[in-house]
Amino acid sequence: MSTTNQQFGEVDPNNAKYIRIFDTTLRDGEQSPGASLNNSEKLEIARQLEALGVDVIEAGFPITSQGDFDSVRAISQEIQNTIVAGLSRCVPRDIDRAGEAIKGGNKTRIHVFCATSKIHREHKLNKAFDEIVALSKKSVAHAREYTDDVEFSPEDGSRTELNHLVDITGAVIEAGATTINIPDTVGYAMPAEYGRIFSYVREQLPIIDEKGIILSSHCHNDLGFAVANSIAAMQGGARQIECTINGIGERAGNAALEEIIMALRTRADFYEQFTTGIKIEKLYPLSRMVSNLTGLLVQRNKAIVGENAFAHESGIHQDGMLKNRNTYEIMNPTDIGVPESKLVLGKHSGRHALKDRIEQLGYSIDDEMLISVYDAFKTLADKKKDVYDEDIEAIIDKEMETERQ
Ligand code: KIV
Ligand code: ZN
Repeated sequence: MSTTNQQFGEVDPNNAKYIRIFDTTLRDGEQSPGASLNNSEKLEIARQLEALGVDVIEAGFPITSQGDFDSVRAISQEIQNTIVAGLSRCVPRDIDRAGEAIKGGNKTRIHVFCATSKIHREHKLNKAFDEIVALSKKSVAHAREYTDDVEFSPEDGSRTELNHLVDITGAVIEAGATTINIPDTVGYAMPAEYGRIFSYVREQLPIIDEKGIILSSHCHNDLGFAVANSIAAMQGGARQIECTINGIGERAGNAALEEIIMALRTRADFYEQFTTGIKIEKLYPLSRMVSNLTGLLVQRNKAIVGENAFAHESGIHQDGMLKNRNTYEIMNPTDIGVPESKLVLGKHSGRHALKDRIEQLGYSIDDEMLISVYDAFKTLADKKKDVYDEDIEAIIDKEMETERQ
């Protein structure tokens, strides 16, 4: 079924270039140190994720606690149009717990993972690669007893030998996995390298295209490449991207959903072929909600949703903005639900921006008074970082008073 959205017009999930957005804010995102969400908060975020148009909500890791189990259960019962996934290790009781949590849901998935890199095999699992393959196959088949939609992740995939990655991918597809996610678990990959992993695995395994298996990326931001790597993965053939609102997640976080979406939209000339079902006008409100409920503040200069993302302080920039906003803005803030761009008045601001603000405040002053107001404004701006509307009003009132005397 195709739908229409503000971002791409007609959106068809069956299109070969459709990118499924797998949101893991409630699972990997909630694993951020300092984040905490109770079950009703998770349910509210899940409702908003569905309204945003994500394709999959990873609602939690049911074996980890009764709370996680309960929220995966509640979310899979309520959410009807979006796939709800529960995470599971390759451990029978984990899979059973995930299976019970999603039971009765309308669209459900179990996401099974097992580490495959040499360092994880030798130092974490103490298992040979062949044992990991056998365990993974068994676990995927077990998960298939609960749902036809099973995702498998070779954890630390980007640091796994390529031949092993191909072997385990082929094996778990045979066992019933329908999505294969190759995570950059520790944010180590470089974009070209990560993209190449996807094209290589796909070239080696024709079964991927024959069976319509979806390849997926899952990027962490340890070197700041999570979004770039996600886009490289799409170019290599990934058709599902795992990400979180505000990029929250373990350590330096996961790929930020809003950044991926706005890169695809803003540079549609470059990424023209890719579409998603995301309704971009909901990005900012959901960013605020996730920040408020998790208690994780969004850094001021964060792309797309940070407080400064559409704020301009320098006089040259403000002057350009007043003449034509495209001089210094590549996106329209209102498209993503940000109320407006801000011209922040501070010591770098010019007379043009001050005049504009004065008029917005309802004053009409002549050029002579503007000169004295501007002088007083500059003196104040040197003493304090931001000059607020009340400060400007006080300066004008004082100047008017002086003029009357
Ligand atoms: O980063 C990672 O490898 C994960 C897996 C569970 C997919 O979060
Ligand atoms: Zn992760």
